Amino acid sequence: MKQIKINGGYELSGTIKISGAKNSAVALIPASILSDDIVKIDNIPNISDIQALNEILQYLGVCVSIDDGLMTIDPKKIENKEIPEDISNRLRASYYFMAALLGKYKKVEMYFPGGCKIGARPIDQTLKGFRALGAKVIEENDKFTITADDLIGGNVYLDMPSVGATINTMLVAVKAKGKTVIENAAKEPEIVNVATFLNSMGAKITGAGTSTIKIKGVDRLSGGFCEVIPDRIETGTYIIAGALLGNNLKIENIIPEHVESLILKLKEMGVKLNIGKNYIIVNKCNNLKSTNIRTLGYPGFPTDLQQPITTLLTQCTGVSVLEETIYENRFQNVEHLNKLGTDIKIAGKKIKINGPTKLVGTTVIATDLRAGACLVLAGLIAEGETIIKDIEHVLRGYENIIEKLTNVGAKIELQEI
Ligand code: EPU
Repeated sequence: MKQIKINGGYELSGTIKISGAKNSAVALIPASILSDDIVKIDNIPNISDIQALNEILQYLGVCVSIDDGLMTIDPKKIENKEIPEDISNRLRASYYFMAALLGKYKKVEMYFPGGCKIGARPIDQTLKGFRALGAKVIEENDKFTITADDLIGGNVYLDMPSVGATINTMLVAVKAKGKTVIENAAKEPEIVNVATFLNSMGAKITGAGTSTIKIKGVDRLSGGFCEVIPDRIETGTYIIAGALLGNNLKIENIIPEHVESLILKLKEMGVKLNIGKNYIIVNKCNNLKSTNIRTLGYPGFPTDLQQPITTLLTQCTGVSVLEETIYENRFQNVEHLNKLGTDIKIAGKKIKINGPTKLVGTTVIATDLRAGACLVLAGLIAEGETIIKDIEHVLRGYENIIEKLTNVGAKIELQEI
């Protein structure tokens, strides 16, 4: 078991370099097995979700190596085997293998995926996509057996713009016969990253990044290279850290357009940002104004930054209302923030934050990945010592978080207990 200890109140100054995006990398890696040849993916983050996917690759007989963030994947000896439940339920992204194996072999046996417990997270839209392309789905005790005599392109209307269902449908459609159209597709930058990668292997995908994606199936995919885009949620988390404690804190290796909704909200709150082509410099704002935020699919305000920005809202003068529209259970951080001294009330899908409040260190629990990030930010501003337990959740998604924050002046350490 691991925990983080933070001594709060230290300003943050210097540069934080952003890593490759977790939510891109975890889709690109399963996508790679659609190729019949070696593929390479650069800028892979060193996080535990990637290690879990590597285990799945190795279990399937795929040769993998990672050298300084460059991952080489050789799927020539892959076998289509049932992925055991204890591996697939370690992370949500395991279900990208469901699509990639179905696309490659027209058959897959796999269990319901894992992931943070932030809501029900059904996979009905993914299954809708599979069925629209001719697959038959049998579900028994959380195990899915999905088969197709032939995969044939079709029209898929997603009932909500799901990131996972959009990527999964693309992964099957690239090798299906004929043309597939995904309507009401999710528009997240991670989807564009996956489409670009598949196209580099020979796929024919257009429209990724818009709500209509068109895919012309091809017989064979081979080779392929891509670079994982910078992590926009890690970017946002550290920009928020800068708004709380920054003294010319530079967040670099980023794509500012990917955090546009956050930038606009921070400006409303009074935060001054110096935005360059691939960096943002941010300073602590002493006179933060309250604001209201509603989470939405991209380019709306990301649900994955909802918990991190809650910490900043606790430092704003006045009442802020934050509405979570994507997940039913993404306010588990609130109880722990309140233990640190905040004044937040939950009312259904909304929380009401009364600020500013003084935070004083105590022991809290990271219930999920972004709740953990929210509590790290809270610990950085709290007086005295904050202990955050169950920090494994945070290590799933933030590469070298301890080193990155220590390098810019935070007093933070990882402890084994
Ligand atoms: N939904 C359905 N049916 C489906 C799929 C989704 O009802 O078949 C619902 C979900 O329950 C949720 C909403 O649609 O309410 C959005 O789900 P989506 O499928 O878009 O999310 P996801 O693909 O499971 C990815 C990220 C999440 C991120 C969301 C939204 C990965 C591995 N996960 O999840 O990341 O919150 O997109 O942007 O890419 C995180 O990084 O902390 C995280 C949770």
